[in-house]
Amino acid sequence: MMLRTHRCGELTSAHVGQTVVLNGWVHGRRDHGTVMFIDLRDRQGITQVVFNAERNPSAHQRAHALRSEYVVAVRGVVARRPDGSENPDLATGEIEVTVESAEILNEARTPPFLIEDEADVTEALRLKYRYLDLRRPKMQRWLELRHEVTQQVRSFLNAEGFLEVETPMLTKSTPEGARDYLVPSRVNPGSFFALPQSPQLFKQILMVSGVDRYYQIARCFRDEDLRFDRQPEFTQIDLELSFVDREQVMRLAEEMVRRVFKETRGIPLPSPFPRLTYGEAMGRYGTDKPDLRFEMPLYDLSKFAASTEFKVFREAVAKGGIAKALVVKGGGTIPRSRIDVLGEAAKGFGAKGLAWVKVTLGWRLESVIAKFLDANRLRDAVPQAAPGDLLLVVADAEPVVHRVLGCLRLELAEELGLIDHHLWRPLWVTDFPLLDYDEGAKRYIAMHHPFTAPFDEDVALLENDPLRVRAKAYDLVLNGNELGGGSIRIHRRDLQTRLFDLLGIGKDEASAKFGFLLEALEYGAPPHGGIALGLDRLVMLLGGAGSIRDVIAFPKTQKAQDPMTEAPSPVDPEQLKELRIKLDKVD
Ligand code: AMO
Ligand code: AMP
Repeated sequence: MMLRTHRCGELTSAHVGQTVVLNGWVHGRRDHGTVMFIDLRDRQGITQVVFNAERNPSAHQRAHALRSEYVVAVRGVVARRPDGSENPDLATGEIEVTVESAEILNEARTPPFLIEDEADVTEALRLKYRYLDLRRPKMQRWLELRHEVTQQVRSFLNAEGFLEVETPMLTKSTPEGARDYLVPSRVNPGSFFALPQSPQLFKQILMVSGVDRYYQIARCFRDEDLRFDRQPEFTQIDLELSFVDREQVMRLAEEMVRRVFKETRGIPLPSPFPRLTYGEAMGRYGTDKPDLRFEMPLYDLSKFAASTEFKVFREAVAKGGIAKALVVKGGGTIPRSRIDVLGEAAKGFGAKGLAWVKVTLGWRLESVIAKFLDANRLRDAVPQAAPGDLLLVVADAEPVVHRVLGCLRLELAEELGLIDHHLWRPLWVTDFPLLDYDEGAKRYIAMHHPFTAPFDEDVALLENDPLRVRAKAYDLVLNGNELGGGSIRIHRRDLQTRLFDLLGIGKDEASAKFGFLLEALEYGAPPHGGIALGLDRLVMLLGGAGSIRDVIAFPKTQKAQDPMTEAPSPVDPEQLKELRIKLDKVD
């Protein structure tokens, strides 16, 4: 085989006159009778190679056999392209290679889709033939970007004195809020490993071990409903540090993210990142991961609602709920039919209804509920509104109002073109409540995970007013995406036990599930804290990909399947027998 001297993206006019060998795939073929042009492609780029019937009849003859995606080696001379035939879109666009000899290294079946960025192809087909999909230039760039991001992360953390440590895949359940993937143990029949939802417990144990600063590009497994930014198997940039406070962890993580953006894409991020408390984020944007690329805040109308004649509003507030409004600037022109669709969407998000009011000239109100509303009082309540605007109001329990208006805010911003897609708006969300109350299960649950430390000054509230206890937790949000989350941990056994008690995790359960951690806390655990960033989400955002599936080499479908390997799949009954597993009938 003729071994390559150069890559397909490398040759320029500086190489004119040199004899070179290129190896690659046939990207395209143009037959002009006595000359045949082949675009030869490898990871680095494309070079035009020319088979000329007059100069080299035998090679030209053989070139007729070449088809898309054949693997070839060509030897030839680099020549300047004739005037007017240069291709400024191509790095190698000034030159071509005049072929002296060519060799077919392998043939290829006709691919089921074009190896081009804009190929019209379903995701199912792309995933089935992932090796062809990954040949597309865009996919290659995303693989490269992911590689660069992890290299930057590693070099940053290495310089900061972190040790990269691997933690087990076959382990015990870690409570991150999803279902576990279980692995049966053949040698311990009836017992199961859980794949880690995160390395949380191990990284804490590493702090007790004196590792001081740990990181891992860690694979995590969560059996949950999948979305564009959620995979059953994903990767975290996972950190833990000893003898630190919140400030230090946040500053370090922030510096790392700034470095990654600057070094991989030349994007400057602000320093420091702005911060909002959980209460501020929820109150103003209806979500704990606000997209700050546009403003459009929620306005509180509870006072107005409490004394209006519109019964729905009045009763919602009387029952302890709130009323809030979005002001859609210039939304007066949005037709009724569209508002009705928004109303349906609001119901989909959990609202009982969506009230709308158009403010017209002279602050007159246009609305099906206009007769119940006092325009002057409404104007006093939302002075930010002006004639020509549309108000969308939801009155309900606070979490419902926030969820619904938070979702509508995003939907409207996208629709009205309020989002500048060139902007990068990172922020920290801090001061989360430690606990939430699960109405269904009638018990408290940890907002993050049960190892998160409460504010020192709130510890006294733990038993009497638990929902007011704030957590030493922080989330990193970028353009409306939750990029990472972490906290200072509980490092004292007594406090951890109090937390488990509050969460209704009894002594036996605690010791069965986390006994090793509780015990470790008794052997001189240092104060510690950390964070984990979603690597897939980070690369998706940096690379402008539409889903994390685009930046994972071999992702799963929405149904958690891999169409290429056809995993998951039934197994040999013998294997099940060895594992002492009997299956229920599955439909
Ligand atoms: P958390 O559960 O918030 O924290 O996860 C950290 C980050 O991981 C990413 N992420 C995901 N990405 C893709 N698919 C998923 N299914 C998925 N789930 C989470 C998100 C998220 O912000 N142990 C703690 C961290 C800590 O406290 O240090 C943890 O796992 O970007
Ligand atoms: P109704 O009196 O139920 O016909 O409702 C009149 C208007 O108020 C409709 O546009 C409903 O969508 C809206 N609406 C109903 N419930 C609520 C609510 N909880 N918050 C805001 N608007 C509501």
